[in-house]
Amino acid sequence: ENKIDLLVHNIGRLVTMQGQGEAGPRTGNAMAQVGEISKGAVAIVDGTIYAVGSEDEVRAKIAGMNVAQELDAEGRLVTPGLIDAHTHLVHGGSREHELDLKLKGVSYLDILASGGGILSTVRSTRKATEQELYDKARRSLDIMLLQGMTTVEAKSGYGLTLEDELKQLTVARSLNETHPVELVSTFMGAHAVPEEYKGRADEYVDLVINVMLPEVKRQGLAQFCDVFCEHGVFTVEQSRKILTAAKELGFGIKIHADEIEPMGGAQLAGELGCISAEHLLAATDEGFAAMQQAGTVAVCLPATSFNLRLKTHARARRMIEMGVPVAISTDYNPGSSPTESIQLVMTLGCLNLGLTPEEVMTAITVNAAHAIGKANTVGSLEVGKQADLVIFNANNLAYLPYHFGINHVNTVVKRGRVVVA
Ligand code: NIG
Ligand code: FE
Repeated sequence: ENKIDLLVHNIGRLVTMQGQGEAGPRTGNAMAQVGEISKGAVAIVDGTIYAVGSEDEVRAKIAGMNVAQELDAEGRLVTPGLIDAHTHLVHGGSREHELDLKLKGVSYLDILASGGGILSTVRSTRKATEQELYDKARRSLDIMLLQGMTTVEAKSGYGLTLEDELKQLTVARSLNETHPVELVSTFMGAHAVPEEYKGRADEYVDLVINVMLPEVKRQGLAQFCDVFCEHGVFTVEQSRKILTAAKELGFGIKIHADEIEPMGGAQLAGELGCISAEHLLAATDEGFAAMQQAGTVAVCLPATSFNLRLKTHARARRMIEMGVPVAISTDYNPGSSPTESIQLVMTLGCLNLGLTPEEVMTAITVNAAHAIGKANTVGSLEVGKQADLVIFNANNLAYLPYHFGINHVNTVVKRGRVVVA
């Protein structure tokens, strides 16, 4: 090699997220280590990081090489591209009509039980064409990219028929091929019991296992399988059955666990070796212990508890104390969390979950990457990794969650290409 494609220099603070040797997701004190360097630079070749460190080191390493393009960060903060490990990106319609019910005190599960909530979005998604779903999700991805997100997980689960689940997953695949944001797909046929199976949940579970999972696998449309294990949705037994079948087919497995009622979903995540467990507001210490044993990442979703007006929060500090790695995500979806703003989630992660700005950064980079099986390529700025990075209009990390409700992004680079300028 004798040419650098892009040199990002004059970085005031460079948050590399380089760790102290350990390969897995981070927990305990390691969540506060962000590998910060002052006066840094990053040199990129072919979309990959060629050199990263202090500007002096980087310039020494690239001495004599041609630099095709220089990007002056003007003393700003630079971090790895942000990762959203949990979204329900592709769906039809919106649910602002439920705001009024929510203000009257009707609970999320009651709205669902009366045919609204997820089931309302299922009706809109079934009606929507592939093109309509694509256009709507693409607008959300544009917002996510402007927020600094360069890798996003996307779940199906608003089709609940083979055809409509495949439709959602196909849209995600097209978006991954045509949008700068990189997508990781999760099949979530077990997101709710569809209306036509009301009272016959076990039959629907059989459909998911015998028909949907094998076809999604055959078409290579998803890397992960997720289940909504919740009172009035899928039981622990049904969740175990689906996730066991998914695992046998070679899917990585995830679970929406103990969000509202403590059902033992976190224990199940540990028992089955889920890569992540989500929500966890009602999870017990026994659940955390099981997750710690299995190395399951806790994906906390503080915008969801905020938007559902819940009085409690996920016990993220306790998780970290018990050795559970924590990630945080938007949970972007039309019901429980209608926001693409990872920066708002950063603030809620600090103020409502009690995470420090450094822990928040770990939670939306390295740990989020582990939660979606992408830690080998994204989540930190290291030689050989993908050149995904964000320049923020800030000069330190704490400024981001502190000054809230606005967008701090200045520039986004994805695979070495400037995609937001
Ligand atoms: O993660 N909890 C289940 N699923 C989503 C909500 C989906 C919806 O309300 O449309 C969640 O919060
Ligand atoms: Fe979710």
